[in-house]
Amino acid sequence: MTDFAPILPGATIGILGGGQLGRMTAMAARSMGYDIQVLDPDPQCASRAIASRTITAPFTDVEAAQELARGCAVVTLEIEQIARPVLDAVAAIAPLRPGADPVYIIQDRVRQKRWLAEHKFPVGPFHEADSAEAIADAVTRFGPSIAKACHGGYDGRGQVRLASPEGATDAWRALGGRPCLVEQRIDIAVELSVLVARRPTGEMVAYPPSRNHHTNGILTWSVIPAELPDALVAAAEALAPAIAERLGLVGLLAVEMFFTTDGQLLVNELAPRPHNTYHHSERASATSQFEQLVRAVCNLPLGAPQVIAPGAIVNLLGDVWLHDTAPDVPFALGVSGSRVHLYGKGEARPGRKMGHLSAVGDSAQEALGRALASYRRLSPEAAVAAGLAGPPPALRAADGALLAELAAVSRGESAPWQGPADSDPDREDVG
Ligand SMILES: Nc1ncnc2c1ncn2[C@@H]1O[C@H](COP(=O)(O)OP(=O)(O)OP(=O)(O)O)[C@@H](O)[C@H]1O
Ligand SMILES: [Mg+2]
Repeated sequence: MTDFAPILPGATIGILGGGQLGRMTAMAARSMGYDIQVLDPDPQCASRAIASRTITAPFTDVEAAQELARGCAVVTLEIEQIARPVLDAVAAIAPLRPGADPVYIIQDRVRQKRWLAEHKFPVGPFHEADSAEAIADAVTRFGPSIAKACHGGYDGRGQVRLASPEGATDAWRALGGRPCLVEQRIDIAVELSVLVARRPTGEMVAYPPSRNHHTNGILTWSVIPAELPDALVAAAEALAPAIAERLGLVGLLAVEMFFTTDGQLLVNELAPRPHNTYHHSERASATSQFEQLVRAVCNLPLGAPQVIAPGAIVNLLGDVWLHDTAPDVPFALGVSGSRVHLYGKGEARPGRKMGHLSAVGDSAQEALGRALASYRRLSPEAAVAAGLAGPPPALRAADGALLAELAAVSRGESAPWQGPADSDPDREDVG
């Protein structure tokens, strides 16, 4: 049975995972008067400086997780790759929010895609492959594809792009000879995401969509508001809560979406936790995603999600520190409206998320321009390498084909998502 008693400031919140998402959640929780304990395999994890206790253990260690849960009024997480027995053991001691079932569904790419398709949420063509032959079959059917490892992939890792079936044997080997998800490569016009928060009572709020730009499978920048047609925004804002509701999740759900060049709104993937594409919420939104997570898991009234100042972020990968010239933080901060966020990670490695730059402005375009200008000042070499040296992309003046599709959505000729599938009477709330 769900306990609706609010968990009040002064209580201790446990977080499975001590990376940057846990760290920023912990800072928001501390601001509200909560204490924080974390569990992470890395003794030097990013949350360590903020938590009053850090348990060093792998995400398969049931006893360590029980130890965490015993000291906490509620346990949440910042990473979905937590072994099922650990989730269940924690949930037997303290409320685990988002809940073991939604995390279990989401943590395996095949299980997640199958669940989305079974519940009639819009996804692109996919195929489950358990051999090189099965990958080859899928690519024969789909054309250019991406094979994604079921577990452990993030920031584009654990993914192999295939142009033709001939690449199947290499892809199978590269993914470690384990079952994987093969997806048709989608012609993406725009990437967007919607963050939704859900309380144990079932109350939900959805943030306006974030517009996101990825390079080589890793997020480069995000901006809010998304500057997309109202019809597309409305469809995206309806889709995310419908998924959260159906999952019965409590906490945050980020829904990554593709808007295709032929006018469909598809779900790319789900994350049951704070999300990189809403880091601008600390600057741009009435309630940051981190505060919102604390409110949701403590069953407090959810905060307003509306944009109070257009905002953007640019990710800082370890590469920024690996060029000949050291990053110039003071120069970067000279850009009006900008701020630097660093996660306190020791070693800069290529592709490792070390921090981000944020900026606010009078418009999304201005905020994005400022965040990118700050990035160019921080490291001109990194900006060239990341393809961010030129003028910022024009959010409204995209290429002709995209404009035509977006206009069709606005006119209602292309319906990006038709609304929730029939309700499922068998669904049970968890959390
Ligand atoms: N089927 C697809 N067709 C076209 N592009 C894709 C497809 N799947 C993924 N991508 C591109 O790769 C990016 C990363 O893919 P995905 O979200 O599956 O990986 P991830 O490793 O979980 O990334 P992250 O951790 O950054 O969310 C997407 O945002 C998109 O730009
Ligand atoms: Mg993703």
